[in-house]
Amino acid sequence: MKTTPESTSLPTRREFLATTTAASVGFALGASAFVSTASAQTSAPISRKKRYALVGVGSRSGMFREAVLRKYAEYSEMVGFCDVNAGRLKLAQDHARNLAGVEVPIYPAKDFDRMVRETKPDVIIITTKDSEHDRYLVRGMELGCDVMTEKPMTTDEKKCAAILKTQARTGRKCTVCFNYRYSPYRSQVKELLMNGVIGDVLSVDFTWLLDTMHGADYFRRWHANKANSGGLMVHKATHHFDLMNWWLSAVPVEVAAVGKREFYTPQMAKRLGLQSHHERCHTCPEKSKCTFRLDLAGNANLKRMYLDQEHHDGYFRDRCVFRPDIDIEDTMNVIVKYSTGATMMYSLNAFNGWEGYRLAFNGTKGRLEHTVQEKVTVFGDGNTPGAVAKEGVITRVYPLRAPAYNVELWQSGSGGHAGGDNLMLDDLFLPNPPADKFLRAADQRSGAYSILTGVAANHSMRTGKPVKIADLVKKIGLPDYPPMPTNTDPVPMPPAAS
Ligand SMILES: NC(=O)c1ccc[n+]([C@@H]2O[C@H](COP(=O)([O-])OP(=O)(O)OC[C@H]3O[C@@H](n4cnc5c(N)ncnc54)[C@H](O)[C@@H]3O)[C@@H](O)[C@H]2O)c1
Repeated sequence: MKTTPESTSLPTRREFLATTTAASVGFALGASAFVSTASAQTSAPISRKKRYALVGVGSRSGMFREAVLRKYAEYSEMVGFCDVNAGRLKLAQDHARNLAGVEVPIYPAKDFDRMVRETKPDVIIITTKDSEHDRYLVRGMELGCDVMTEKPMTTDEKKCAAILKTQARTGRKCTVCFNYRYSPYRSQVKELLMNGVIGDVLSVDFTWLLDTMHGADYFRRWHANKANSGGLMVHKATHHFDLMNWWLSAVPVEVAAVGKREFYTPQMAKRLGLQSHHERCHTCPEKSKCTFRLDLAGNANLKRMYLDQEHHDGYFRDRCVFRPDIDIEDTMNVIVKYSTGATMMYSLNAFNGWEGYRLAFNGTKGRLEHTVQEKVTVFGDGNTPGAVAKEGVITRVYPLRAPAYNVELWQSGSGGHAGGDNLMLDDLFLPNPPADKFLRAADQRSGAYSILTGVAANHSMRTGKPVKIADLVKKIGLPDYPPMPTNTDPVPMPPAAS
């Protein structure tokens, strides 16, 4: 991962920390302790634990908290938690105490700068709702920290440009967490494409389906408004568009899209036999009739994390999926042109009979089809997210004019997203992660290109016109992707048709 050398008018991390008094710091460290991550990588190995602070202590943060506090505790320590919700902050603090016997200081969101000053993190981990990622990415880097964010890096082109500019100015390391790349069967697809099994890829058909448990969940809470999430084109499809950029080792150039919301609507509530939509499931007068109901009180995890904490900030986790103020689409169709000349037809549907995807790469030597069926899940309910259904993965190659065959699959691992989460954590938290020929660790350049297909699709849905990525954000820089077969390689003459 490349970062530009530091040249900035902002205070460096050293200068910023030097302005704080030892008293306010509480447990001030000697100057020698402030080995920046960047310098540590180029000189001596890190001789002390890396210090992490985490912002946004909701469901997803649990994976990062456990990683720092337990799995990688030999190399890492958690020095601060920050959130807008005082109740969830207390839960995170209790969790750290129970898990690792440590007392992690907690800070309200307005005191983010104070947290950095007092706790001196090397890295800020950001797991807030999507629309807030940029503010902590930018401020974290300005204050001299490296930053690590959950996907999507951010939700629109202006915020994206500000993140890129700050990273270039400060030279800090900005990591974007793309766990999907690490799932063994997706890495295997990358290997097959890299090895030229189907030659160079000319076009792609990609259909992603969300079922009415997981899909509906995006319509219950903050994701249901584009201002918070960028809609499913950004919030969800950032995974898919990142996978495609990385699979192809290419970046998107131009995007056209249509989208609509026709299932999660007040009209559908009536068509399903309800009197009306309502405010939320917890108080719904028709809860006994509605199978889209999320029973927060009936699930210990969801109750503790959301229902019991909502008096702090009014965040309802179980809003009616048929209410009128939702402004994201449930049906989206997108056409993308890539820098290699490849084209893609992509669709995302959020009310389907099964969850997963069907994907086909059409190459100069044949076609590769890859299908994954996932298990039903509601994020944060205690089940493993992104788990694969039994016999749910098929990867099949159709060489030109030769028999098709199923590829013997790489084994899935344990943990979230078929083992992808755990492999990614090794890459993020081990001091010397193993070399990775797939270059799965991603920075702000991959983060930017992964959201810009969806951001462009959002514009295209509104205007009815195609959108060029270069008109949205400039000077992104090309991500580090592995080399692939190209459109100048010789192609073997296929066997004569029998
Ligand atoms: N990679 C994956 O597979 C995956 C899976 C789930 C979620 N995520 C990502 O993780 C992030 C968190 O999702 P979640 O499901 O945990 O959501 P969540 O609603 O459970 O948690 C979000 C937390 O952010 C806090 N927050 C909101 N605004 C804030 C602000 N301005 N400052 C500080 N804290 C703020 C909330 O109080 C809450 O505690 C999202 O960006 C989401 O896209 C990624």
